[in-house]
Amino acid sequence: MKPTLEAFLKDVLDGLSARPRTLPCKYLYDAKGSALFEEICQTEDYYVTRADLALHESHIGEFSAIVGPGAHIIEFGSGAGIKTRKLLAGLEQPRAYTPIEISVAALAESARELETAFPEIEICPLRADYTRPIDAESLRLEPPASRRVVYFPGSTISNFEHDEARAFLERMRFIAGPDGGILIGVDLLKPADRLLRAYDDAEGVTARFNLNLLERLANELGAELESDSFVHEARFNTDFNRIEMHLVARRPTRISLGGQHFDFAAGDSIHTENSHKYSVRDFRELAATAGLESLRVWKDPQGLFSMHWLQSSQPQGAGGASTGVLRSKST
Ligand code: TRP
Repeated sequence: MKPTLEAFLKDVLDGLSARPRTLPCKYLYDAKGSALFEEICQTEDYYVTRADLALHESHIGEFSAIVGPGAHIIEFGSGAGIKTRKLLAGLEQPRAYTPIEISVAALAESARELETAFPEIEICPLRADYTRPIDAESLRLEPPASRRVVYFPGSTISNFEHDEARAFLERMRFIAGPDGGILIGVDLLKPADRLLRAYDDAEGVTARFNLNLLERLANELGAELESDSFVHEARFNTDFNRIEMHLVARRPTRISLGGQHFDFAAGDSIHTENSHKYSVRDFRELAATAGLESLRVWKDPQGLFSMHWLQSSQPQGAGGASTGVLRSKST
C-alpha cells in the first residue's frame, strides 16, 4: 500500500475508534472535494466568500496605507484567488510576493499567472506545509524588503481549535518579525440560524461535500459501508462558538474497514470539521495570547466578516531569542 494510503487508513481507523468519532478534515479536500468546496463558495447561503471579497473591495486603500511601500507579502495559500490580485494591485510598490503552498502544481500555476499580471513584483513561491514551522531562511530577500506582511484571507483560521490557532498565530508572528504585520480574515459570530444555513446550504452542496468523505473511504480504502445510511448535519456548539459538521447515521449501520467493524446506532455521528466564529473582542483576546496586538479591524459593508491587522505586541529587542534570530537574518 502506498504510504499516503496507509496514513489515510490509519487516520480513519483511529478516528472511527475514538469517542466522539471523528475523521480528519484534511481528507475532505481531494479533487472532487476541492471542486465541491469551490461550488459551496458560489451558493446563496454561504456568505463568507462574498463578504471577504466585498471587504477587500471597500478597504484595500486602508490596507495599503497600513502596510506601506516596499513590503514582502507572504501568503499562506497558493495565491490563485482574486483577492491576492486585488491586494497586489492595491498596495504601494510591493517588493516581493511569496505564496506558501504544499501542492507543486497549484503553486507553479499561480506563480506563472502572477508573474504575467505583475511583472514588476518579484514572485518567490515557496513549497511548504504552512501548518508546520517554516524555515525563515527561505524567505530571505536581497536586498531586503521594508517589512514582511503575512496575508491569510478567507476563514481558514476558524477551522483550527483554539490551541492550534494560537500556535499558528505564533508562527505567523515569528515570520512577520517585530516590524512586520499580519493581515488575517476572521468570520464573525452571528445568530446560529444564519450560520447553520451557511453550512447546510439549500442546494445541498455542503452535504455532498461532507458525504464525499464516505465515498473516499469506500473507493480508496475499500471500506464496506452504506453511504445512504448517513446524512450531513451542521450543528452550532455554543460552548465553543463553532459550527460543527457531522455525518449522522439515520439508521443502525456498520462500516467495515481494514478487518475492523464499526457499528453505528441511529443518531450516532462522525465529527468531520469545525468552523469557529469570533466576535472582534474574542479574536483580539486570542491574538493577545499569541503575543499579537490587533491594531485595526475592518468589516464588509454588511458586517458579516472581518479582517484584522496584527502586530507583535512584544517590544523590539525584547521579543525573546527566536524573534532576535529571525530579525538578524531577515532585515
Ligand atoms: N474555511 C471554511 C469555513 O470554515 C471551510 C468550509 C466552508 C467548510 N464550508 C465548509 C468546511 C463546509 C467543511 C464543510 O468557513
